[in-house]
Amino acid sequence: MSGRILVFGGAGYIGSHVVKSLLGNCYEPIVADNLSFGHRQAVLTDEFEQADLLDVRSIDRVFDKHKIDAVIHLAAFIQVGESVADPAKYYRNNVVGTLNLLDSMVGHGVKKIVFSSTAAIFGSPQYTPIDEAHPKSPINPYGQSKLMIERIFEDYHKAYGLSHIALRYFNASGADKDGQIGESHNPETHLIPLVLKAINGERENVKIFGSDYDTPDGTCLRDYIHVEDLAEAHRLALEATDRFSGGLNLGTGVPTSVKEIIGAAEKITGKKCPVEYAPRREGDPSKLYASNEKAKEILRWVPRYTDIERIIQTAWNWEKNKKF
Ligand code: UFG
Repeated sequence: MSGRILVFGGAGYIGSHVVKSLLGNCYEPIVADNLSFGHRQAVLTDEFEQADLLDVRSIDRVFDKHKIDAVIHLAAFIQVGESVADPAKYYRNNVVGTLNLLDSMVGHGVKKIVFSSTAAIFGSPQYTPIDEAHPKSPINPYGQSKLMIERIFEDYHKAYGLSHIALRYFNASGADKDGQIGESHNPETHLIPLVLKAINGERENVKIFGSDYDTPDGTCLRDYIHVEDLAEAHRLALEATDRFSGGLNLGTGVPTSVKEIIGAAEKITGKKCPVEYAPRREGDPSKLYASNEKAKEILRWVPRYTDIERIIQTAWNWEKNKKF
């Protein structure tokens, strides 16, 4: 497949890597972003439109101007804690905003969407690894907002023939191997960049949220999936919308603990990471890792970065030479 792909949220961390992957594979990405969190410098194409999901006319303008074949939608608020404190913000932006996008798509006859969903739709795991059959029971408004959208897709599929693939990311991590783009959140809440910032002196330390979990070293296990592997999965999902509609879990299937992340980062940088032991963070499950069998089968995708040190190496290269 080739074609003109609208990447909503294409100036963000994952979106910018998706755009790079599309550009390298004969697609023509058109980026739309409101730049509230995204970075203009992260957009590696001149085809950029400033648009906002809560401004219907700005969305319609993009579809009127460009002949779009499919949409990749990554524009969302993503902070779990903030979603608990201010759920209205999350439901309005993530759910209402996506409805606006879907309605514009339907109005313009665009019938394919790849969507960034999250492991948070599963809530507290009942078993691991988490496969697609795992019960979906989010424990915060962020996860709820993403699950609501997945359900809306199912109804739009039946009624309007919308093909959709919702990609449930586990822990997105790492950076572009060429060093052009990488993770730059403000505020930063994710473990790997926080560890690297503590190592290079940008932060006093990193807090380890809980060391008494029922895991081998007492710290939480997560599934860190490289952002280039995620990006490739989006590209392959565009092609797979012809044969599949539904949700897919995207992880490596390899659990890594907080302490293992810190140990790997120390090894790569050759420097000690100052740490402080802190209480558990509310809402953190002890183990969260994916079964990626279905994604591999449907997308014909294989994650290339299965070694956490290689992932952290790319994040460190970016952290040292950040462009934005
Ligand atoms: N952690 C620390 N100290 C920190 C930050 C994180 O110990 O300063 C720990 C967390 O407790 C967790 C692990 O590091 O065990 C990873 O935490 P992140 O905040 O980097 O990522 P999460 O696993 O909390 O979040 C990810 C996605 C979210 C998604 C969530 C689903 O980033 O978008 O999984 O539970 F909602």
